[in-house]
Amino acid sequence: MRSHASSSGKIILCGEHAVVYGRPAIAIPLTDVRARVSIAPAAPGSGIRFDAPDLGRRWLIASAPHDPLSELTLTVLRQFGVQHMPDIEITITSDIPIASGMGSGAAIATAIVRALASAFERDLSAAEVSALVYESERRFHGTPSGIDNTVIAYERAIWFQRCSESPPHQIEPLSIAAPFVLLIGDTGVRSATRLPVGEVRRRWERNPSRYEALFDAVAEVVHQVRRALAEGDRAALGPLLDRNQAFLEEIGVSSPELECLIAAARSAGARGAKLSGGGWGGVMIALVETETAQQVREALQAAGATHVLETVVRASA
Ligand code: PMV
Repeated sequence: MRSHASSSGKIILCGEHAVVYGRPAIAIPLTDVRARVSIAPAAPGSGIRFDAPDLGRRWLIASAPHDPLSELTLTVLRQFGVQHMPDIEITITSDIPIASGMGSGAAIATAIVRALASAFERDLSAAEVSALVYESERRFHGTPSGIDNTVIAYERAIWFQRCSESPPHQIEPLSIAAPFVLLIGDTGVRSATRLPVGEVRRRWERNPSRYEALFDAVAEVVHQVRRALAEGDRAALGPLLDRNQAFLEEIGVSSPELECLIAAARSAGARGAKLSGGGWGGVMIALVETETAQQVREALQAAGATHVLETVVRASA
């Protein structure tokens, strides 16, 4: 009863928010930033204990059964047909900043599911892992589209379109003809995704035709991004990211801190830049060339980014 598992972070390249309303979006795993979970046997009678130093938390499942991670663990054990509560310690560590748009919650949940599967010698497909994590996210975050759990469970670049009436969702591996480099700048402002998602829903309810038109406009950009990626056309990709940002501003999920980093990246030579994820804080992404990466990184830092990560998105068939 000893196991280890990990899972990647993620960023949304384009299409966030509109994806909640059935439009397509593109997401990319961040394989270098990971959540890790290890399971080790504990003293008889001790039950299940969680230790999450990076979250600053330590708890017993028996004293916090409704904690999201406790509930997820209990659901997985029930699905495995485990009759008696095992005596185990579940240690969670993560280098993915929380509430930043990099998928920290879904990554931790995915690593827990994988570590439990390995500890109890069960084989779970990526689709099964994704479904368990989605259920947990749905209970605690309202109306997630499912893109986070999907990109993290499959750990590859995906085209995702939610189908609310008749799942399964459309999930397709993305074809990327040429690699490209993204810088990810963190505003340092923590924003729980459900807050902007809830606000967009209220605005959409008040003015459905305006928001449906904005989501359609985002969808058109996402289709063009897919074509640009398939053709390896980085020159086209930058302006498309900028267009997506303009729509996100109209949708109402940008923020002064995000726009400050986006402007800094663009003036330092990025081909395009936008917020990524829920918005109102969290991270932005900038498309850079290898030659401009350093100057854009410095500009982001000078503009107040608390972290800057670089990721190379590899070509894929
Ligand atoms: O903030 P994140 O990384 O969890 O991204 C949320 C993406 C949204 O489209 C805003 C919400 C969703 O469920 O798809």
